[in-house]
Amino acid sequence: MAAKAFRFLRRIPSKDSSCAAESGRSQKMDTDGNAPLIELRNICKIYQMGTEQVHANDGISLKISRGEFVAIVGKSGSGKSTLMNIIGALDVPTEGEYYLDGEDVSHMSEDQLAEIRNKMIGFIFQQYNLLLRDNLLENVELPLLYAGYSKSERKEKAMRSLERVGLADKWFNKPSQLSGGQQQRVSIARALAGNPSLILADEPTGALDSKTSREVLDFLKELNREGNTIIIITHDNSIAMEAKRVVRIKDGKINFDGDVEKYAEFV
Ligand SMILES: Nc1ncnc2c1ncn2[C@@H]1O[C@H](COP(=O)(O)OP(=O)(O)OP(=O)(O)O)[C@@H](O)[C@H]1O
Ligand SMILES: [Mg+2]
Repeated sequence: MAAKAFRFLRRIPSKDSSCAAESGRSQKMDTDGNAPLIELRNICKIYQMGTEQVHANDGISLKISRGEFVAIVGKSGSGKSTLMNIIGALDVPTEGEYYLDGEDVSHMSEDQLAEIRNKMIGFIFQQYNLLLRDNLLENVELPLLYAGYSKSERKEKAMRSLERVGLADKWFNKPSQLSGGQQQRVSIARALAGNPSLILADEPTGALDSKTSREVLDFLKELNREGNTIIIITHDNSIAMEAKRVVRIKDGKINFDGDVEKYAEFV
């Protein structure tokens, strides 16, 4: 584990934790009768560090509907990446339930999680996570390969996605031949290629200068206007303000959840 993670170890007596609380509520429907895209019920993630327990997520309940643009914000060590790993089906909670599009993800095996990820989630990372030896087209095709698309479907979808971010003419370039902003656009193209139900962006502008950050944020806004559901994880309040709804995490718990105008008054 990264040394950084150790710096923020906290000791919380288990009696302070809401992790033991029962979560036996029934799944509520939205007012239009649809289940939310995301429903977290009393999610806890506890890391055992020797004799200490780290409550990285400590009783998080949250619903997110299709078409929302949500920022999850909090200081370093507050539990954002832990929560993103659970929402992104990269990890399962110690306790609590997670429904993604009505399916219970919280008890899935590694293989089932991988399938859900491939089918439903597009990831955007701070460091782009592009394969440096592959060209842009191959990079964007990769999740489509895992999702089981044929070669011709992969090529068609990946080219369309590169067009969407304005980089189709560079499909044969390697990532190292692009600027940071262009590389992030490739990673957005990769996230979009399989037409996912959810786009999950972890500090997507963390490695970019302010002008390029602006472009990436504007692009994410545009994708949201087109109906995509977007969750952006950030430690930066000014970036959180770009979303429509802000969820703030402190010490593994939600301490604010509301629309961005209310958040502006809160901070
Ligand atoms: N694998 C792990 N084992 C033990 N403790 C962990 C592990 N991963 C995270 N933690 C601890 O859980 C807490 C939350 O960590 P997390 O990475 O979710 O924070 P974060 O909000 O993403 O921070 P940052 O902004 O620095 O990325 C921290 O105290 C961290 O040290
Ligand atoms: Mg993090």
